[in-house]
Amino acid sequence: MKKNKISKAWINKQRRDIYVRKSKIDGYRARSVYKLIEIDQKFKIFKNGMVVIDLGAAPGSWSQYLSKIIKSGKIISIDLKAMDPINNTIQIQGDFTDLQVQKKISDILVKKSDVIISDMAVNTTGIKNIDSIQTGELCIKAMVFSGNNLSQNGFFISKIFMGGSVNEIILLGKKIFKEVKVFKPKSSRKESKESFIICKKLR
Ligand SMILES: C[S@@+](CC[C@H](N)C(=O)[O-])C[C@H]1O[C@@H](n2cnc3c(N)ncnc32)[C@H](O)[C@@H]1O
Repeated sequence: MKKNKISKAWINKQRRDIYVRKSKIDGYRARSVYKLIEIDQKFKIFKNGMVVIDLGAAPGSWSQYLSKIIKSGKIISIDLKAMDPINNTIQIQGDFTDLQVQKKISDILVKKSDVIISDMAVNTTGIKNIDSIQTGELCIKAMVFSGNNLSQNGFFISKIFMGGSVNEIILLGKKIFKEVKVFKPKSSRKESKESFIICKKLR
């Protein structure tokens, strides 16, 4: 009964959400795309010809947005889950934390990537500090990988949850990158602790 009530509340919230409605009209698979669009509008990141790695890509709205901009570069999309195909993307199904999967990604790169984005998140427990720490661990792994696989002036962008290990993540970011900012897009739900770390230029 309780579960039923929760799912009804969730469905109603989705119906009221303007970004859910807009994503259906615009043909995107998830409302998350508007977070990436806002980040791109603010930090001017994506250009045709770039090599971009999209971590935690399913169902694929971020990769859909990238594929509209990047026609002649390379988009590599990774997720635990299978995804429907998207134009100009190479899709890898696997666990990013598995070093074999990371090697597979590095092997596809003919040159260092220009941008690495991560929207990876564990299934939330509802306990905000635990969610923050577990998703933070994914962010840290993606950041370390970026340190080895990004070009000198590259960007690393990742979902974080405020609280938990966020200070540790920002400190690590400042060790690896020259510029580090935290940005919460308007389309990120207000009640959520979600934010994004935007890192630029390797040290
Ligand atoms: C919020 S969703 C991503 C939404 C996506 N950016 C989009 O626009 O469609 C988070 C994704 O992270 C993926 N994920 C979580 N842990 C992962 C891991 N270790 N390796 C790869 N993907 C992972 C989940 O399977 C899930 O699909």
